Amino acid sequence: MKIWVPSKAAADVLSDLPDVECVVYDGTGPLPEGAEEVEVWVPPLMPVAGVAGLLAGMSRLRLLQTVTAGVDAYRPYLPEGVVLCNARGVHDAGTAEWAVGAMIAVLREFPGFAAAQRAGEWTYHHTGVLADSTVLIVGHGSIGRALEARLEGFEVDVLRVARTARENVHGMDELPGLLPLADVVVLLVPSTPETTGMVDAGFLAAMKDGALLVNAARGGVVDTGALVAELRAGRLSAALDVTDPEPLPAGHPLWTAPGVFITPHVAGSTPASARRVLRLLRSQLLRHLAGEPLKNVITGPY
Ligand code: GLV
Repeated sequence: MKIWVPSKAAADVLSDLPDVECVVYDGTGPLPEGAEEVEVWVPPLMPVAGVAGLLAGMSRLRLLQTVTAGVDAYRPYLPEGVVLCNARGVHDAGTAEWAVGAMIAVLREFPGFAAAQRAGEWTYHHTGVLADSTVLIVGHGSIGRALEARLEGFEVDVLRVARTARENVHGMDELPGLLPLADVVVLLVPSTPETTGMVDAGFLAAMKDGALLVNAARGGVVDTGALVAELRAGRLSAALDVTDPEPLPAGHPLWTAPGVFITPHVAGSTPASARRVLRLLRSQLLRHLAGEPLKNVITGPY
C-alpha cells in the first residue's frame, strides 16, 4: 500500500507496518511520481497548491488524513469514496497555549514593552489584565476545552458558544447577546461556509469598547477590512495567528493597524503537536490496515 506522508518522521513511525510503502512529500519541490497509486495521503501542514487537480488524479485514494484540525483546504475537493479524517486533538495543547499567551501579551502590552526595550526606554505605566474579565470562547470543541482548562487559575469567567447548544454551552444563535458581555472573544470555529466572514462589522460593533479579539481559527472567519476599521478607531485590540490573506503581504494595512499583535499561523507548530501527530498517524494507519473504524472522520459539519 502506497502512502504519501509529509515528513521523514512520519515515514519512520510507520516503517514497521506490513505492506506499507511511504513516500515523503513535504509540499516543497516537485510532486512525487505515482499519485494514482496512493491509497493514503497525509498532506503537509501547509495546504498544497493545485489540490483539486491532484485529488482528481488520485484514483486509488481511500483515506486523506490531515495533520491539521481544519480540513477546509481539502474538504471541497474530496472525491467520492475517499474518507477524510482530521487531526482533532493534535493541536489542542499548542493552540490553547498560544491563545492564553496572546491574550496576556496584548493585555499586558508585551509587544510595546519589547519595542521599548529595543529602544532602551523605561516606559512605566499601568496595563490591562486578564484577571476578573469575561472570556467568550466561540467554537467550543476540543481546542476550546483545552483553552478553558488552561484558563482555570486566571480568575476569569468563561462563556462558551458552539454550533449547537448543550449544557453550559450556548448555541450560535445566542452569540449577539453574549458579545457585549465579553472582554476577550476567542475564535476557534472551523472554516465553513457558515463561519466565513462571520466576524463582520456588525459582530465587531457588538463587542465591548476596549475588548480583545483573538483569532486562532482561520483568517477568513474575520472580515479583515472591518477589523482594520475598528483597530484604527482604537475601539478594539486583536491577537491574530491567522489572517486573510495568508501569508499577510508586506504593506498590508493590518500589519500597521494600532493594537494588533500578529503571529504567522504558528499556534499549533510546536514539538507538542509534532509528537501527537505521529501518535495519531500510527494509530490511524493501524486501524486502516485492520479495517477498523477510523478516528476523527469528517462527515457532517465538523
Ligand atoms: C491549524 O491551523 C489546524 O487547522 O490545525
